[in-house]
Amino acid sequence: MFHMFSFFLCCWSLTGVFGAETNEIQSVSVTEGDSVTLYIDVTEIQKDKNMLWKYGAEKCNIAEINRKYEMFSTFDGPDGRFRDRLKLDNQTGSLTITNITREHAGVYQLEIAGARKKSFSVSVYARLPVPVISSNASQCSSSSSSSQQNCSLVCSVVNVGHVTLSWYKGNSLLSSISVSDLSISLSLPLEVEYQDKNTYSCVLNNSISSQTQHLDITQLCHTCADSFSLIELFSAAAAGSLLIMAGFGIFCFYRKHRKTEQQVQTHEDEITYAEPTLNKRNT
Ligand SMILES: *[C@@H]1O[C@H](CO)[C@@H](O)[C@H](O)[C@H]1NC(C)=O
Ligand SMILES: *[C@@H]1O[C@H](CO)[C@@H](O)[C@H](O)[C@H]1NC(C)=O
Ligand SMILES: *[C@@H]1O[C@H](CO)[C@@H](O)[C@H](O)[C@H]1NC(C)=O
Ligand SMILES: *[C@@H]1O[C@H](CO)[C@@H](O)[C@H](O)[C@H]1NC(C)=O
Ligand SMILES: *[C@@H]1O[C@H](CO)[C@@H](O)[C@H](O)[C@H]1NC(C)=O
Repeated sequence: MFHMFSFFLCCWSLTGVFGAETNEIQSVSVTEGDSVTLYIDVTEIQKDKNMLWKYGAEKCNIAEINRKYEMFSTFDGPDGRFRDRLKLDNQTGSLTITNITREHAGVYQLEIAGARKKSFSVSVYARLPVPVISSNASQCSSSSSSSQQNCSLVCSVVNVGHVTLSWYKGNSLLSSISVSDLSISLSLPLEVEYQDKNTYSCVLNNSISSQTQHLDITQLCHTCADSFSLIELFSAAAAGSLLIMAGFGIFCFYRKHRKTEQQVQTHEDEITYAEPTLNKRNT
C-alpha cells in the first residue's frame, strides 16, 4: 500500500505547470562513493522560481521546490535508491547526490517554472584500486644463478574494467595495456637493472581518475640477493676473513719495510738536503 503510494508520488507529474521546451544537456562524470552537485547558475534563473528535479527515462520526481508553500522536498525514488542521498539547496535549487553508486547514473532533468529545462547526464565510474608491484619470482630464481643484471617485475590489478595500466620511467610512458571489458585482471611486466636509479611508477587510470604505485627497486629486487644459499654465504664470509688477514699481513710487512727504508732515507736527507731546507725556513 505504502509502496504504491510512494510510486505514485514519485512519478506524479506537473508537466502542465512548466512551460518552456528548450533543453540543454550537460555531461557529468563522478567516481563511485563520491558526491556530486548538479549545479545551476543562479544568475540565469530567478531565485523565487518553483523547481522540479526528475530522474531517468520515467521522469520520476526526486526533488521539488515550491516557493509559495515553502515546500522543499526530496523523494526516495521508485525503488528507494535515493533514500538519504539527496540534498536540495533551498536557495539555488542545486541538487547534491551523496555517496553515489552506479545505479544513480542516468539523466537528471531540472524544470524551472517559466524557464528552459536543463538536463545532466551523469556517468558513474568505478573507484580504482591502487596497482600492486611484485617481483616475477620464477624469473628471479633463474637470474640469481646466472650473471643476469636485471630484475623482473610485474604490475597488476584485479576486477577492473574500462581502464589503462601503464609503466612510467619518470614522466615518459614505457608500456601500457588497455581493457574495455568489465571485471578482469590485468598485469604488465617490467625489466629493470638492479642498480637503476631512475624513478618508475605503475599507473592505473580511467577517463576521470588514476591511481599510482611507485617502484622501490631496493626493496623489491632484494629478494633475489636474499635467496643466496648458506654455502655461498659461508664461503663469502670465509673469503672475506681471508682477505682481511691477508690485508693485515701485507700492511704489517709494508710498515716494517717502510720503517727501515725511511730510516735510511732520513739519514740521507740530513746529509744531502740540509742546506736547502734551512734556506727555505729563512725566507
Ligand atoms: C534553508 O536551509 C537552511 C539550512 O540548510 C535553513 O536554515 C533555512 O531556514 C532554510 N530556508 C528555508 C526558507 O526553508
Ligand atoms: C555508501 O553506499 C554504499 C552502498 O549503498 C554503502 O554500503 C556505504 O555504507 C555507503 N557509505 C556511506 C559513507 O554512507
Ligand atoms: C614471469 O616471467 C616469465 C618469463 O619471462 C613470463 O613467462 C611470465 O609471464 C612472467 N609472469 C608474470 C606474472 O608476468
Ligand atoms: C635488462 O633490462 C634492460 C632495460 O631495463 C634491457 O634493455 C636489457 O635488454 C635487459 N637485459 C636482459 C639480459 O634481459
Ligand atoms: C588513461 O589516460 C590516458 C591519457 O592520460 C587516456 O588516453 C586513456 O584513454 C585513459 N584510459 C581510459 C581507459 O580512459
